[in-house]
Amino acid sequence: MRIIQLLVISCILFSCSETNKNQAFTPGQLWPDNKGTHINAHGGGILHFQGKYYWFGEHKGSGEIGNTAQVGVSCYSSDDLYNWKNEGIALKVVENDSTHDIAKGCILERPKVIYNAKTRKFVMWFHLELKGKGYDAARSGVAISDNVLGPYTFVKSFRPESGFWPVNVQPYHLKPVSDTIKSTYCGGKGCLPAHPDSLNILGRDFKNGQMARDMNLFVDDDGTAYHIYASEENSTLHISQLTNDYLSNSGKYIRLFSGRYMEAPAMFKHNDKYYLFASDCTGWAPNAARSAIADSVFGNWTELGNPCIGKDSALTFYSQSTFVLPVAGKKDALIFISDRWNPKDHTDGRYIWLPILFEKEKPVLKWMDTWSLDVFANE
Ligand code: GAL
Repeated sequence: MRIIQLLVISCILFSCSETNKNQAFTPGQLWPDNKGTHINAHGGGILHFQGKYYWFGEHKGSGEIGNTAQVGVSCYSSDDLYNWKNEGIALKVVENDSTHDIAKGCILERPKVIYNAKTRKFVMWFHLELKGKGYDAARSGVAISDNVLGPYTFVKSFRPESGFWPVNVQPYHLKPVSDTIKSTYCGGKGCLPAHPDSLNILGRDFKNGQMARDMNLFVDDDGTAYHIYASEENSTLHISQLTNDYLSNSGKYIRLFSGRYMEAPAMFKHNDKYYLFASDCTGWAPNAARSAIADSVFGNWTELGNPCIGKDSALTFYSQSTFVLPVAGKKDALIFISDRWNPKDHTDGRYIWLPILFEKEKPVLKWMDTWSLDVFANE
């Protein structure tokens, strides 16, 4: 009798719907959290910490203002990756100061959290656009917390690498340049391509810092962390080593795929090689994904083409890359995570999770209506 009473009480306290029910991934379907509401953590990233997974992402609203940050960065936790508990808002936008860098109504995209074992701090980076300025600011934001769930405290926002040249700077970058130049390329929307190297956008932004829009973080096995961001009017990716405390860019960075207009970068490691997934630059509209490989982060990167195969592979299965998650306890288990955006109602944006398969050194993504972690071998 006692046990039944206890069960009833815990059911009332913690809600019966909290029992784990998902046992598989169903890409593109609604993904209810522990309260039955579709997960609201878009453009997200997942941290594995002390046996649990934490999913941070953009809390989006519906309607026209849906892509401006009205709330902040959501956090969900999970033991098994299938079932997620809503842990609330990890970083809140600032409501009472419209001039604050993360004022309510700013654009705060693609948040990622990493743990710094030396400082024992959780560090969040995100792409920040200042309130009322469209996508012109192109800044990086940093927030910090002692606890994985937050609250995270805003530290600063800036354009990275001001006063530093990349390791692969070219002589023409060092020549004087007008500070008014702007690339005319606008991502597959009918504008004429302008090659960034002829404009020297890198040189234009040398003094005040490089533009940083779509971004990701990657922590290597030795604890060195990197910030990967779409720069130079989105034309060129930069990979920048972070300082030991993960709070700043170190000044050591490399330019990649100049003039390829890659967005949505997601970096990972497999068999001692470094990989990148990315997209073309077409806003919310899906396009064909890109992939690339290198022997070292600051080495030569080689494009490997579209990793997707089969139906809708030319549109990344109607989605755009967001993150690559290594699965704990499974051998070579990597999950490709992307967003199927719905700009008419961002709250209905769907998540595509697929296992990364390899054909020799090339990562391959095949559509699966449903799949589970059983596709990966145990360690
Ligand atoms: C996408 C980008 C998104 C968002 C969107 C705005 O290309 O990946 O994060 O910035 O453009 O149009």
